[in-house]
Amino acid sequence: MQATTTERLEGTAYGRQQPQPNALLTEVGPGTPCGELMRRYWQPVLASHNVTSRPREIRILGEDLIVFRDGEGRPGLLYPRCMHRGTSLFWGHVEQDGIRCCYHGWKFDVEGNCLEQPCEPNGGMQRAEHRQPWYPVRERYGLVWTYMGPPDRMPALPRFDSLEPLEPGETYAALDNSVGAHGDMNGPEVVPYSWLHMNDNVMDPFHVQVLHSTFSVTQFVREFAVMPTVTFEEIDAGVIYRAHRRLDDGRQVDRVSTWMMPNIMSVPSITMAAGRPDSIGIVVPVDQTHCRVVMVVRVPEGAPVMNDGVGLASLKPWNEMAVEERQDRPGDFEAQAGQGPVSLHSEEHLVTSDRGIGLQRRALTRAIAAVEQGGDPPGLRFGDDSAITHMPSGNFFR
Ligand code: FES
Ligand SMILES: [Fe+2]
Repeated sequence: MQATTTERLEGTAYGRQQPQPNALLTEVGPGTPCGELMRRYWQPVLASHNVTSRPREIRILGEDLIVFRDGEGRPGLLYPRCMHRGTSLFWGHVEQDGIRCCYHGWKFDVEGNCLEQPCEPNGGMQRAEHRQPWYPVRERYGLVWTYMGPPDRMPALPRFDSLEPLEPGETYAALDNSVGAHGDMNGPEVVPYSWLHMNDNVMDPFHVQVLHSTFSVTQFVREFAVMPTVTFEEIDAGVIYRAHRRLDDGRQVDRVSTWMMPNIMSVPSITMAAGRPDSIGIVVPVDQTHCRVVMVVRVPEGAPVMNDGVGLASLKPWNEMAVEERQDRPGDFEAQAGQGPVSLHSEEHLVTSDRGIGLQRRALTRAIAAVEQGGDPPGLRFGDDSAITHMPSGNFFR
């Protein structure tokens, strides 16, 4: 009798092992293995239209920085603490050729060169030896990008065939507001969980059927309610999945999504439109427990950048939903925030349907090792700015 009771009590939560996150893939600060990997790739900072003469505080890869645009139109990304006596350049004023610190007026250009030291004799004789720490920035596709890695390993700024060439009448819409995570143009810019949550999500075709299509309401399109047959495949510097569905109307469709090293995604249209993909997304690690989902979408000129909801069939914007409404209709944000600020990877049970995530994490782990051993991680081009990376994504009907 007692044995039966004990048997029935097997598997209780009592005495379970202390769970641990996968620190290797989630810590992104300077000097961490994944942080050094991320620093080998250009990362988006903000949409170009959000980089203005008003200085902004921004955190990327665990580093606090100040971003601004000088009077010549050049974007700058500087270490925030003024090299003189450390007040923040957030309080500085932008001028034609740089930013002037509010405290004693030292002025720095977008590459950190000290242009003026007005309180010093002769305008600061040692000025040329003073340099505010800075990072290189470039603009492409309506985004400001930065390279935060070792200067001698700076690769070419990437280009993607999902974004160029533009079709006639199209333009780029750059979104730095994590709309890809919560579906709300007015939702939080930065979401309170690890970049790896969203990165895993990209190679997870099955949640499209469960979370987005059958669990609550149809968030994208009805066709996704069909359980797909999926194959995963490693490609050069990335992983793809091919989700095959037989639709009720007799058509068959392969939905191919692409993940590229280290945090880039190309997901086909969620309206199931046929043809080439029209966007890329980049999951930028803010720090260990926050990320910013940046997207660039090709849109017809003059059209609204994106409707609230990115096609999510929410009855109201995500930001205005009560907790109970979000329980009734959870989406990517709820599922991922539900994993915690950093997931506890030691207690995961990765199964057959998680094969894509396994491939991604192994690719990241190999790339981290390559960087630690002094090599270059995959997917980078050096010197050649003209090469365009092929994104094999799309909805292919047959
Ligand atoms: S602290 Fe910036 S000029 Fe003195
Ligand atoms: Fe999703």
